[in-house]
Amino acid sequence: MKKSCFITRRDLIRGGVTLAAAGATLLPESGADAAKPGKFSFVHITDTHIQPELGAAEGVKKAFEAIRALKEKPAFALIGGDIVMDVALVDRPRTDLLYDLWNKSAAELSLPLYYTVGNHDVYAIGGKTPVAADDPEFGKGMWRKRTGVKNRYDTFDFGGWRFVMLDSVGVAEGGKWWGEIDAEQMRWLDDLLRKTGKQRPVIFLTHIPILTLFGLYTEGTTQALTEQTIVKNGKEFAEMIRPYNVKAVFQGHTHVVEACDYLGTRYITGGAVCGEWWKGPRLGVHPEGFTVVTADGDALSHRYVPYGWKARTEKS
Ligand SMILES: [Fe+2]
Repeated sequence: MKKSCFITRRDLIRGGVTLAAAGATLLPESGADAAKPGKFSFVHITDTHIQPELGAAEGVKKAFEAIRALKEKPAFALIGGDIVMDVALVDRPRTDLLYDLWNKSAAELSLPLYYTVGNHDVYAIGGKTPVAADDPEFGKGMWRKRTGVKNRYDTFDFGGWRFVMLDSVGVAEGGKWWGEIDAEQMRWLDDLLRKTGKQRPVIFLTHIPILTLFGLYTEGTTQALTEQTIVKNGKEFAEMIRPYNVKAVFQGHTHVVEACDYLGTRYITGGAVCGEWWKGPRLGVHPEGFTVVTADGDALSHRYVPYGWKARTEKS
């Protein structure tokens, strides 16, 4: 297998905590420099919602043990957001407790990690102990500090494929948040796709879904989704990526296992490690799990892997 990743695994693992890739400035233009796609596997891990309650930390440990035992031997992990069980509305000690739990678990995974932010990962945007929007730790500042993520949206190459981690969560003071790929990011993405060219296969990672059938089977077939369930400019995103070889968009947030194909792109919602927030399978039918993905040449295959978690009560 020929790797085209421009940073090494050693670069990514520092002090037991894996760090996200460096910025887009490391990427070459498309064309002669683009490596021929090879075969490799990775995992999409989303919505762990780690916390001390309900055995969640043990659940994450069990999920990561299942990942380490995979026959595919993933080269890295895409982390789909909501790594912690809400730091948006809680105080600093609780925030430190949850991020400490996450970093301890993540180090045991021993894989390079590439993150997208979740709405539960943003710090003190509201609640009883909010911080000001100009505080460096407000919102995504704390998430970046505790995960080592350099840029809130970013890209890297591996095995001839281009990966793009989006920031799908808008935040404001007062606890307000919404799903959106903001204007600054859309301009960056337009430039990145032009440089990527129409041949190189591309994979996106987002927390809040860009395309989903979620509302059809939860609210009713004629009910529109809100901006807390789906990004509000998904139509513009889909139009932007249409000319390019975008194979998949990995999504989280709704905790369901779902795949929708549209114009050659598969929008894959990757369930949740926590299921229904550690209270059982999501909607009673989507088990606690993660997704294993294999790229082979220009093709992509994926399977959802339940890791056998049994929900606990507070006292069990
Ligand atoms: Fe979540």
